[in-house]
Amino acid sequence: MTYSKFGEKFAREVGILSLMKDMGEALASGKDEFIMMGGGNPGHIPVFQQRMQQRLQKIAADEDLCRRMLGVYCAPQGEKGFLDSLASLLRNQYGWKVGPENICITNGSQTGFFLLLNIFAGEYDHGRRKHIRLPLAPEYIGYADIGLSEDFFIATRPKIDRLEEHLFKYRVDFDAIEVSEETGALCVSRPTNPTGNVITDEEVHRLDRLAKDAGVPLILDSAYGLPFPGIVFSEATPIWNDNIILCLSLSKLGLPAVRTGIIIAGEELIRLISGMNAIMALAPAGFGTFLAHDLVKSAEILDVSKDVIRPFYESKAMAAVRMFEKTLAGAPYTIHRPEGAIFLWLWFENLPISSRELYERLKKRGVLVISGHFFFPGLENDDWAHKNECIRVNYSQDEHLVERGIEIIAEEVKKAYAQG
Ligand SMILES: Cc1ncc(COP(=O)(O)O)c(C=O)c1O
Repeated sequence: MTYSKFGEKFAREVGILSLMKDMGEALASGKDEFIMMGGGNPGHIPVFQQRMQQRLQKIAADEDLCRRMLGVYCAPQGEKGFLDSLASLLRNQYGWKVGPENICITNGSQTGFFLLLNIFAGEYDHGRRKHIRLPLAPEYIGYADIGLSEDFFIATRPKIDRLEEHLFKYRVDFDAIEVSEETGALCVSRPTNPTGNVITDEEVHRLDRLAKDAGVPLILDSAYGLPFPGIVFSEATPIWNDNIILCLSLSKLGLPAVRTGIIIAGEELIRLISGMNAIMALAPAGFGTFLAHDLVKSAEILDVSKDVIRPFYESKAMAAVRMFEKTLAGAPYTIHRPEGAIFLWLWFENLPISSRELYERLKKRGVLVISGHFFFPGLENDDWAHKNECIRVNYSQDEHLVERGIEIIAEEVKKAYAQG
């Protein structure tokens, strides 16, 4: 069978696909001793799960709610009641000038990014082409294969701040960012997957100015961030204005299966995305917005984020750092300061083997992490050694498994430094 270029694009063995397959195969192998520190699955937080269970029971017992949740297509923009409640929350809490006309639901924020990034990059009138500028690499692997045209991303290497011993932080290198006629939009995740970096308010404001001056939007991916699920351990403020496209998700609250992404943007763009929803899916799934509606209406979603979700990950992050400090003592390792999200990003400078090889060795020992080289979309042609010296570790699973995983990672890293 032959496929169009569009079909061929998805038939290729792309990074995110091989990664998901690899993890699926590891699970299917029945080797239940596999320690899963690779994927982006959020942890299971009992208080939040109970809350969702109660909500489900309430819906199940209510004929009208049940009918509305299961028996009707919602509007292509998303369920009206949820959009109204979220707009009120954002207006009341942050003074943002948003109404329901500024919000659209997508089937997961990943789908939202597919639409958004292809709206702003690719072919324009008169044969002009534009790209997405990623102001800071490493950046989320899920963007990497989203583009329907070639040369889709251009990324900028970060500045590296060495902090206390064994900690570092990436910062946006404003001197190196070029925003040109060929730039369609800027896009950055905050907190960043894979590094747990939270770009500062000042960095966001500077990027926003840069974007505004160039007449392009700044896409702010807040899948882990503010206002919810709020997995941010550093000082940071939720930021939005009519040149910022803010992307939120219910996944990292603990609802990845309901596939609910939220886009907050100018009215015109929201109409465009809603139209795309209608063409691609008739309507976005309403399940997630139904489940989360009371949390949003009462603004409790902010308290749950602050009092339940954030502390859960923060204590796990700190425990994982302590564990690495203990097990890697004596080795030349550095960790990106954990400021948010659900990962640690470890940098093994001058490691005699590549991060891919380290990943393979760890897999043989039953520990799945992700090799860092996947996370440099837009820097494919840059032979920066750093790209092959990092790994991403998800620390959100059970403590004893994470501890065992970290012991094995440390053993393999020390062995690699000693023997290559
Ligand atoms: C930075 C970032 N953005 C977006 C997504 C997509 O999330 P979802 O499609 O589950 O909303 C993820 C998922 O891991 C992510 O890490």
